Amino acid sequence: MSAELAVPRASRRTARGFDRLSGVYDALARACFGPLIPRSQELFLDDMATRGNALIVGGGTGGFLVSLVAAGFRGRIVNLDASASMLRRTRERLRGSGLAAACAIDHVQGGVEALSDGARFDLVCTNYFLDLFENDDLVAVMRKLDGMLAGDGLWLCTDFSPPRGPALRRIPTALLVSTLYAAFALTCGVRTRRLPPIESGFAGLGYVPRRRETVGRGLLWSALYRRGAGAAAIGPNEGPAANPVACGGGMFHHGGRVTEAGNHGR
Ligand SMILES: C[S@@+](CC[C@H](N)C(=O)[O-])C[C@H]1O[C@@H](n2cnc3c(N)ncnc32)[C@H](O)[C@@H]1O
Repeated sequence: MSAELAVPRASRRTARGFDRLSGVYDALARACFGPLIPRSQELFLDDMATRGNALIVGGGTGGFLVSLVAAGFRGRIVNLDASASMLRRTRERLRGSGLAAACAIDHVQGGVEALSDGARFDLVCTNYFLDLFENDDLVAVMRKLDGMLAGDGLWLCTDFSPPRGPALRRIPTALLVSTLYAAFALTCGVRTRRLPPIESGFAGLGYVPRRRETVGRGLLWSALYRRGAGAAAIGPNEGPAANPVACGGGMFHHGGRVTEAGNHGR
């Protein structure tokens, strides 16, 4: 099934940019990162495959969606993307995989901003999506998705690691991230210029990583979050960022509620 939601004006240019990029998106990602992007998204498929229903936000060309269904997920999926072309490619990919009838999937063209808070999901997936938002917007998007996750729900998030460590180790990652943002600014009008404090955002909303791993020598991180202190031990190759990006300005109140918008990462 297909549906449409509003795309706010600020995101329309971004959506048009991703429409144009959709045909080359996977090839570009493969050329820059080899198999790392899909690998980062597929680390915890076993934990996710048994969930009842899922919301995939900014799913792009649908590689992750197909992997989730191929891993045995049989609940309802809402696949939201602002780009009509990305959704079209997802449908084509699903048909090509032979899994289109394996579960009920609603492909919704629209902005995350327009999602209604009423729905509840057992699984929310934001792969390389939250990094598109500057901090006030990031807070709003994370709060909205938090409100849509069931009490015992899981939230998969994958993204680029902020440059850390000694200067010589930080430079290549910093260069790569700036180049990516410059490319997305040019092609999609993305205004964000550096990685926002996503992991601090999760901590501020009261989430803990039930599993967390990095791939590509720490370039990319993937975490399966759940609320509260009861989450089990984390993954084999790295714990949560020992020193997550500072979250000053009172953007997140540790204790689970967002109290005030900050002004980071601009
Ligand atoms: C960087 S791509 C990530 C695609 C995919 N998740 C992946 O990991 O390859 C971001 C995706 O988010 C979509 N997008 C951008 N802004 C959005 C918004 N405000 N609401 C919903 N989707 C949006 C784009 O169309 C694009 O498909």
